[in-house]
Amino acid sequence: MIITIDGPAGSGKSTIARKLAARLGIPYLDTGAMYRAVALRALRLGVRPNDAAGLIECARQSHIELDCGPTFTRVVLDGEDVSEAIRGMTVNGATSAVARLQPIRELLVQRQRELGRRFGSLVTEGRDQGSVVFPDADLKVVMDATLDRRVKRRHLEMLADGEEVKVQDILDNLRERDNNDAHQWAPLLSDPDVLQLDTSHMTVAQVVERLLAEVERRRARSASAARTANSR
Ligand code: DC
Repeated sequence: MIITIDGPAGSGKSTIARKLAARLGIPYLDTGAMYRAVALRALRLGVRPNDAAGLIECARQSHIELDCGPTFTRVVLDGEDVSEAIRGMTVNGATSAVARLQPIRELLVQRQRELGRRFGSLVTEGRDQGSVVFPDADLKVVMDATLDRRVKRRHLEMLADGEEVKVQDILDNLRERDNNDAHQWAPLLSDPDVLQLDTSHMTVAQVVERLLAEVERRRARSASAARTANSR
């Protein structure tokens, strides 16, 4: 079973995707970590955000391994554990330039599909997972929350990580990312089979239970469709 979760930064995707995957006993794929790892590599090599050819080459030469456990995603870039290093504000900024380049997207989409084939079942989270990477997924979710809630969540996350960041900087960063990213999941919003969830006033447990119920509903629906097909 492939479950995709898309939506803006701070909507709760990572937390929910990880917990849902753990409850279902299937891997969790954090695709944002791949874009972040490429951005970190570019920063370290001194490739400038406006050097498209340099960024593309940097992505092509990158070797990224993701170990997606139930409580923590370990990201290994060219043999080095960069799980912490990819989460800072500097990397946030550089990642937008990386994620805008179509050749880099194609390369990472290919790597994500390979992981999908290898695992067979997974919960994958990003911006384009249901629209581009796994359009035939069994369950496609678009998660959202008000900008205010998303800023609060990001702030708490960063404080917990020991990062001192101004609320205004987080707000500016999220606004900019919304502008860059929203078109990626937009096609899903008119698809009646896509589950759209506003998590602004939901607890993590409530969202996970809602999604588990939806997974059950879809499983029952496919089983019933298979029975009907067999009886013909
Ligand atoms: O989910 P995140 O904040 O870790 O994502 C980091 C950046 O990568 C963000 O700017 C959006 C981009 N991204 C993307 O364009 N497509 C994805 N599938 C995942 C992330």
